[in-house]
Amino acid sequence: MSKVFVTRVIPGDALAKLRAAHDVEVWDGALPPDPAALRAGVADADGLLCLVTDRIDRALLEAAPNLRAIANYAVGSDNIDLDVARERGVAVGITPDVLTEATADLAFALLLAAARRLPEAAGAVRSGAWRTWEPAGWLGADVHGATLGIVGFGRIGRAVARRATGFEMTVLATRQTPLNELLERSDFVSLHCPLTPQTHHLIDGDALALMRPTAILVNTARGGIVDQVALAQALREGTIAGAALDVTDPEPLAADDPLLGAPNLLVLPHIGSATRTARARMTEIAVANLLAALDGQPMPYPAG
Ligand code: DGY
Repeated sequence: MSKVFVTRVIPGDALAKLRAAHDVEVWDGALPPDPAALRAGVADADGLLCLVTDRIDRALLEAAPNLRAIANYAVGSDNIDLDVARERGVAVGITPDVLTEATADLAFALLLAAARRLPEAAGAVRSGAWRTWEPAGWLGADVHGATLGIVGFGRIGRAVARRATGFEMTVLATRQTPLNELLERSDFVSLHCPLTPQTHHLIDGDALALMRPTAILVNTARGGIVDQVALAQALREGTIAGAALDVTDPEPLAADDPLLGAPNLLVLPHIGSATRTARARMTEIAVANLLAALDGQPMPYPAG
């Protein structure tokens, strides 16, 4: 029986399978364990089930001498130093596929909400500011027939493209279209690449300047892909028309972060995979990854 540290209470019942085979400790705080608590949790652990909110760096890995397996409760793995894990012989797994459609749905929801100004319109109803049907009120952008640029054409990017065909959109993807051309031609730009040193601040001031003044940026990938100082400036100056973000850097943004003061901005609390089914299936996959690795088998869903 191995010791496993789980860094948060997670949905679904698959954790019972892990408990049946191993000695499982679950951090039950509403907030993630702080670095000291995380270090204490992994000190004698053989397995770790962690979240995007946990930073698994060299110091943490060196504080976990017995650790053999990490199951990240996410399709991304940018919170984990994969090179150090590899160096130390620690297997790392992720939860792909099961959250693809949920995340693509949310990207499209953000695109539609920003295009049709849903947050402002709903806010006007609630505040009583809406007085009558207005011929020129809440005019937004057409989604049907528009051009969508998809940056990162992996599982989620392709799922967004499938939705776009139902709206008869022209889809450009970075796989076939150079990024600069995609930015210049798109009415909507949706980000779906992983966060790596190469994609950090990929969407910076220069990239935003290439976009159309009517364009909307959607990000359901990772906050670090966008230079948020440049984005705030682009929104204030009207370089682009709007942005709809499920992810930011950091998360959450401080209440006084200048980005939150920018106009035409919608920000959600990183809920791309937050459907009951997707989150329960993420638990199943994370558990399957840990059970395999702790049994000396390859993980079914390895990172990288
Ligand atoms: C992921 O899976 O990487 C998400 O950001 C969390 O669901």
